[in-house]
Amino acid sequence: MAIALIILAAGQGTRMNSDQPKVLHKVAGAPLLIHAMRAGAAVAPDRTIIVAGHGAEAVAKAASDWDEGAEVVIQAEQKGTGHAVAQALPALKGFEGKIIVLYGDTPFIRAETIEKMAENPADVVVLGFTADPATRYGRLVADGPDLARIVEYKDATEAERAITLMNSGVLCADAALLAELVAGLGNDNASGEYYLTDVIGAAVAKGRRASVVTCDEAETLGVNSRADLARAEAAFQARARAEAMADGVTLTAPETVFFAFDTVVGRDTIIGPNVVFGPGATVESGCEIKPFCHLEGCHLSTGAQVGPFARLRPGAELAEDVHVGNFVEIKNAILDQGVKVGHLTYLGDAHVGEGANIGAGTVTCNYDGFSKHRTEIGARAFIGSDTMLVAPVRIGAGAITGSGSVITRDVPDEALAIARPPQLNKDGLAPKLFEMYKAAKEKRRKEAK
Ligand code: UD1
Ligand code: CA
Repeated sequence: MAIALIILAAGQGTRMNSDQPKVLHKVAGAPLLIHAMRAGAAVAPDRTIIVAGHGAEAVAKAASDWDEGAEVVIQAEQKGTGHAVAQALPALKGFEGKIIVLYGDTPFIRAETIEKMAENPADVVVLGFTADPATRYGRLVADGPDLARIVEYKDATEAERAITLMNSGVLCADAALLAELVAGLGNDNASGEYYLTDVIGAAVAKGRRASVVTCDEAETLGVNSRADLARAEAAFQARARAEAMADGVTLTAPETVFFAFDTVVGRDTIIGPNVVFGPGATVESGCEIKPFCHLEGCHLSTGAQVGPFARLRPGAELAEDVHVGNFVEIKNAILDQGVKVGHLTYLGDAHVGEGANIGAGTVTCNYDGFSKHRTEIGARAFIGSDTMLVAPVRIGAGAITGSGSVITRDVPDEALAIARPPQLNKDGLAPKLFEMYKAAKEKRRKEAK
């Protein structure tokens, strides 16, 4: 059966106190909107329509960066959730199948939950959850096992406010029926808004069946403030850590490890304390990430060891058994099997061949102020400590660079390159220098008096 998603994301999110639209604030490195789109993607929707309003241009860009096929419609004025859905329906004219409505600011709806809703045979299905009656969610008014209507908190009677079955806002309905029901919505209520929730009562009045699927309150966690955003981050991290451990990853101090929305870590990998993942990191099995590393847009093959205090940036590609040590930064560089980069090094826009050894303090000087240039280091090459590799430059296989060299020209295979001033030894000069320094210090001390 065909499925279309409508994701409501027009609201400003006043309580975020931000210049940015609410749905673009990030949890685990991805905008809230992308979390909602990812959840919806689980039912393989044929169409995805985002309803944007505040910051529509930026919202549209984020949506299409994630999914080129996502369509964006504009709701210029926010007149309620029913009005928002109405803006999306013309784009779905003639669409046959089910429509699922999600909120862009509700990131944690599980794929299984959305699937369950799509499979439910009722004409309209609402996602509900049980919560404390002190909360101000819309109330699901039941009629036996079915649903009679939804009443917004503001419009509810005392008796209705005592109901503990709440509306999450997620809804699934036949496309043609939803269009008919939304067209009939009015705004005669406490907020003067077109409530999407009114479609339930309207469907039942037409003799259609409305039903509820329930989920845990944590799944429907919505973000309205910075405090909510922090809570959402904490909830995401707690779940990601638990999942990683269940998948066979050792976390020495789980509460200090931060994953991104798309981090992948293989079995028997060990992650030490205070490791932070940005988007796009994949770590295969049997790796070790020592304390205080930051990894983003990178890939570690089996047996790679990184850190402590290493930074892997986008395009860092570590083959099997590569060792990257402390205070090493790697960006857009491929390190072939068994490469060792132990200490205090920057490798950017580079390819390092199998088994090469990069000495402490090596720098690929990849940027001339205007353009980036590449460095090629051949297999089994030995780069002496404190070598500056002024790119573009190529070091041959099995070659050596002398410590402290500034390499500006290519080095042939198996050559030794030394590019530093030759050493000068002056016999017996050291004690004389010490005397001079001592006298100079004494003179300064007397003058200061
Ligand atoms: C809505 C539900 C309520 C439910 C609650 C769950 C209605 C009338 N009420 O209330 O029953 O318990 O969500 O969180 O649906 N939006 C637009 N355009 C608009 C209005 C809203 O795009 O004109 C978007 C918002 O950006 C947001 C979502 O729809 O992502 C929900 O809107 P919000 O105003 O937060 O609804 P609630 O009043 O919380
Ligand atoms: Ca809300």
